[in-house]
Amino acid sequence: MNTPEKQHQATHELGRVYDSITDSKVLTEFFLATVSRFIPARQSYLFLAARNKTLLLEASAPFVGEVPPDLAVEAQKIFEDGKPRVLKGRMFLPLIARNSVMGIACLERTAGAPVFTPQEIETGFDLASEFSGALKNILLFEENIKMERLAAVGQAMGMVVHEIKNIMQLARFSDEMTRMGIKEKNEKFLTTGLIKMAKTLKEMDGFIWEMLSLTKDYQLEPEKVDLAAILTELQSDLAERAEGYHIKIDFKTDPDFPAVEGDGRSLYRALLNLVKNAFEAFQGKQGACVKIRARVKDDERYELTVEDNASGMSEEVKAKLFEAFFSTKGKRGTGLGLMVVARTAKMHQGSVNVESQPGVGTKFILTLRRFFPRVP
Ligand SMILES: Nc1ncnc2c1ncn2[C@@H]1O[C@H](COP(=O)(O)OP(=O)(O)O)[C@@H](O)[C@H]1O
Ligand SMILES: [Mg+2]
Repeated sequence: MNTPEKQHQATHELGRVYDSITDSKVLTEFFLATVSRFIPARQSYLFLAARNKTLLLEASAPFVGEVPPDLAVEAQKIFEDGKPRVLKGRMFLPLIARNSVMGIACLERTAGAPVFTPQEIETGFDLASEFSGALKNILLFEENIKMERLAAVGQAMGMVVHEIKNIMQLARFSDEMTRMGIKEKNEKFLTTGLIKMAKTLKEMDGFIWEMLSLTKDYQLEPEKVDLAAILTELQSDLAERAEGYHIKIDFKTDPDFPAVEGDGRSLYRALLNLVKNAFEAFQGKQGACVKIRARVKDDERYELTVEDNASGMSEEVKAKLFEAFFSTKGKRGTGLGLMVVARTAKMHQGSVNVESQPGVGTKFILTLRRFFPRVP
């Protein structure tokens, strides 16, 4: 028998458990199991309405692949009507949350059992409304997560497109120079154009690689790396820009710096990002200098440091440095540079440390592994 106490106990029990469930499937299964404990039914179905208001079977207990066609038709009618009904030994319970019907639960009476009592219908209705509230909350939560993901994708796209536009600008300039060189038979223009184009391609290639390295499946394939050569390459790639900004760049590799293992391109891009950040922090300061060093730390590790005497940074900025999209540069920044640096350190089983003082300068220290054990 279904007493008011039993009914109260059921709803109370449900409310308590619902609070701890965060998955809509688990919640639904739990609801169907509970309802059949309090109302004798041989089969229960749960339908939820799609956007076009058609009911779709969400769950059944015990599991059935197909729903009797007449039951589906009745459920759709009752969904539109929104009131609980008993028809031909089936109890239909509308799932109502925030004044709208989300779906229908249907219980089929056990063969030979007495007809559903008004008390059972009331219990069913109470259980269904408790369930509907909890389900609506979970669905809203899931929807929110989707929206947040979508927003994050949008933000990432915006940053990537912005950076590609910058590179395109370089490409256009190179193209223009080369055309002028051809048209006016001016070898100097032609050479400048082609050199710029090569730089643009290198920039594009590096940027694509950076984005790839941020994807979650990216794996380091360690190979022998000549760090001194990477530093020389960086020095020559940055020379023109440093001169333009009146910044001194000072590269030093320990004279006996040994060969190390790692990903050369990744190390190049990490250093490039650090030096670029230093350049951007000067804002026309006199006596600007960036020091780049490579030195052995111990048998297992080596250090790469990039030190500037630029603006330095506040504790607040320091706390957020490695967050995705964090930038103090407005439209000019992507907020991805230091993420790439952190990723490089992680890939090389190392770490990044920052020392910085406002008005004095900043030092980034990458501590990286010299060798990687071979995977057999
Ligand atoms: N050398 C530095 N000196 C001062 N601030 C820095 C330095 N390097 C990084 N930052 C700060 O860290 C932020 C994040 O850097 P980053 O991830 O490279 O993104 P972005 O350069 O696009 O802003 C910068 O916007 C800047 O505020
Ligand atoms: Mg940067």
